[in-house]
Amino acid sequence: MTDLPMPAPRPFSPGLEGVVAGETSLSYVDGENGRLLYRGYRIGDLVERGTYPAVANLLWTGDWDATHRLPTAPIPAPVLSILRALPAETKPMDALRTAVSAWGATQDLPWPPTVEHARAITSFSPSALAAFARLRAGLEPVEPDPSLDLVEGFLYQLKGERPDAATARALDAYFIVGAEHGFNASTFTARVVISTRSDIASALVGAIGTMKGPLHGGAPSEVVDQLSRVGSADHAEAWVREALANGERLMGFGHRVYRAYDPRAAALRKVAEAMPTRPDWLQLAIDVEDVALRVLAETHPDRPLKTNVEFYAAPVLMGVGLSPDLFPAAFSLSRHAGWTAHVLEQSANNRLIRPDVNYVGPAERDLPA
Ligand SMILES: CC(C)(COP(=O)(O)OP(=O)(O)OC[C@H]1O[C@@H](n2cnc3c(N)ncnc32)[C@H](O)[C@@H]1OP(=O)(O)O)[C@@H](O)C(=O)NCCC(=O)NCCS
Repeated sequence: MTDLPMPAPRPFSPGLEGVVAGETSLSYVDGENGRLLYRGYRIGDLVERGTYPAVANLLWTGDWDATHRLPTAPIPAPVLSILRALPAETKPMDALRTAVSAWGATQDLPWPPTVEHARAITSFSPSALAAFARLRAGLEPVEPDPSLDLVEGFLYQLKGERPDAATARALDAYFIVGAEHGFNASTFTARVVISTRSDIASALVGAIGTMKGPLHGGAPSEVVDQLSRVGSADHAEAWVREALANGERLMGFGHRVYRAYDPRAAALRKVAEAMPTRPDWLQLAIDVEDVALRVLAETHPDRPLKTNVEFYAAPVLMGVGLSPDLFPAAFSLSRHAGWTAHVLEQSANNRLIRPDVNYVGPAERDLPA
């Protein structure tokens, strides 16, 4: 028996909401004003004038070089053997997570992580996802073509033929808007892992596992489902009102941080509209968006609910020919730039991330006799 007191609970924030857990110079997410900056540059300008490799390089190094290139990388033989051994019904996120883990086992990744490590893993993963997508369809993987830049190379390895320039450009734009977004759950996971002086592959395995959850990995495929349920523009208003009356959430609307129109949605809408291979339901999506914004403003006058990135990610990803079950893994490929940049930023000024917790279990007691 002891008479030591148990601790009094201290204030805490469930989900760490509102807790400032670090500093970053990589991106600024301005939820009130609908602004997203990567190292100070506006996301809309980066989509219009940049490429994914140039944006990744900006995040890694802080330097803007619009001509920066990054082809996809070959898959080490042991990793390919593991991808071949996976059942065809494996979820693409599980395949990607497994591939990154196996890749880490084939590399020498000493502390601290370097820009070269970041480049290597970012250029490996698209090859791995493309190989898995082909293997599950009974097709052989396609070797990288070093003359192609990362996103074009990924589409080439996925489909076995070079994509047209407009298709590659559209997916490149999606990759740019997906590249980085502050201390979201998967990025924070990557920082926690690297803060133990682990390696960049382990950090990304954790990040992919975190992004796999439906609360994070996004739901552009659910946008597609909802639009097919709406069916036609004439039916949009009745459908939206009924869905809201039944307590349903409109997919592609609302955001934890943004109170204004998500700047990534604005950039992707332009991209979707300019795509020669845009899905034929894009006009329906635009009509449904108008109705949804009007009705949401009526039903939630105090809580601005605007379009988020997922709404226009859906037509872009469908338009480039990705099957909806590949959408979350494509999002992960795009986020490699941000994850790895955060790994570099964390390790450059490292402090083990180890928060405290309130103990709320039984008071000290004796084991039963
Ligand atoms: C993204 C999301 C999870 C953010 O949620 P959050 O910050 O936790 O917001 P809350 O759950 O606190 O919602 C606040 C209010 O807005 C409503 N709301 C939020 N998003 C809504 C949506 N998409 N459709 C309808 N109502 C919505 C909630 O019902 C709640 O209303 P109430 O106060 O009357 O109950 C949420 O907006 C959502 O579920 N959106 C749909 C899914 C989606 O598009 N996800 C991709 C995000 S990038």
